[in-house]
Amino acid sequence: MVFPEYRPRRLRKNENMRALIRETHLSPDQFVSPVFIMPGKNKREEIPSMPGVFRMSVDQLSKEAEECLSLGVKSMLLFGLPEQKDAMGSGAHAKDGIIQRGIRELKNKSPELTVITDVCLCEYTDHGHCGCLIGDTVDNDATLEILAKTALSHAQAGADIVAPSDMMDGRVAEIRASLDEENFDMIPIMSYSVKYASAFYGPFRDAANCAPQFGDRRSYQMDPANAKEALREATLDVDEGADILMVKPAVAYLDIISRLNDEFDLPIAAYHVSGEYAMIKAAAANGWIDGEKVLAETLLSIKRAGADIIITYGAKEMAKLLQK
Ligand code: PBG
Repeated sequence: MVFPEYRPRRLRKNENMRALIRETHLSPDQFVSPVFIMPGKNKREEIPSMPGVFRMSVDQLSKEAEECLSLGVKSMLLFGLPEQKDAMGSGAHAKDGIIQRGIRELKNKSPELTVITDVCLCEYTDHGHCGCLIGDTVDNDATLEILAKTALSHAQAGADIVAPSDMMDGRVAEIRASLDEENFDMIPIMSYSVKYASAFYGPFRDAANCAPQFGDRRSYQMDPANAKEALREATLDVDEGADILMVKPAVAYLDIISRLNDEFDLPIAAYHVSGEYAMIKAAAANGWIDGEKVLAETLLSIKRAGADIIITYGAKEMAKLLQK
């Protein structure tokens, strides 16, 4: 059937008709809202490059969780700004570390919240790399042990899902083994399987104070030019026991989300990262775009590409828009 017999505009006549045939829907059930936990009491600071996103002290977390839950956003992803850093990132697995305290606070006050933790060392190392060093390279195998300890300490504090973001080879298997050994065999691993060495992480590194002090992350994060390698990374994570595969960033890598969704039967998460969020906010603040509409369209594109779960700094805002 071709024009004039077939007219696609017939089904776009009015909003009810359009809603009837809409293929993709956003739901706050599948949003994850990131949060930055900082030392101190009664602290809540907006991150300048990420309007609407706050660093907050542990005592402020449950208020944040209640706000998320009231909007239907049921998961939060935790990042920590520790009091102290050292070469080995030992604050990442401290029993009384900033994240471990945050997890306990959240699980105490809002037990129904799904608490997801970022497992990485870059916020905890004084050099800002995602693992410990030999000379000026990151020591893959020595880092694995520290990551496994970190993930285990999160599970012990009550985390519901651990999400390794370091990009060391073999970390999913190492974390799975250490969780299982301590009877945390029901804690899923959401692996940052395909994490690119991206300039879109800029605002995050300011927010979490974790920019590398020398060099960059290109010896462990992926080259933005590569797509076949993404499938290889994801295959390794599946074989090592990942439960959810993540692609990061999201918007600049929609093709990768789509390919993973075609090739794998595990749930796919996409991380709409700090720079992708900041660009929308900056343009909207200038009056150059309609920020709400662009946020909605952006998250829809991520979903349409094949993501099930969307991690976004706009989770609460989008959830409010969906209620309208
Ligand atoms: C830690 C980590 C980073 C992000 C999430 N986990 C920073 C990085 O790898 O440099 C970035 C998130 C964002 O930009 O929103 N490794």
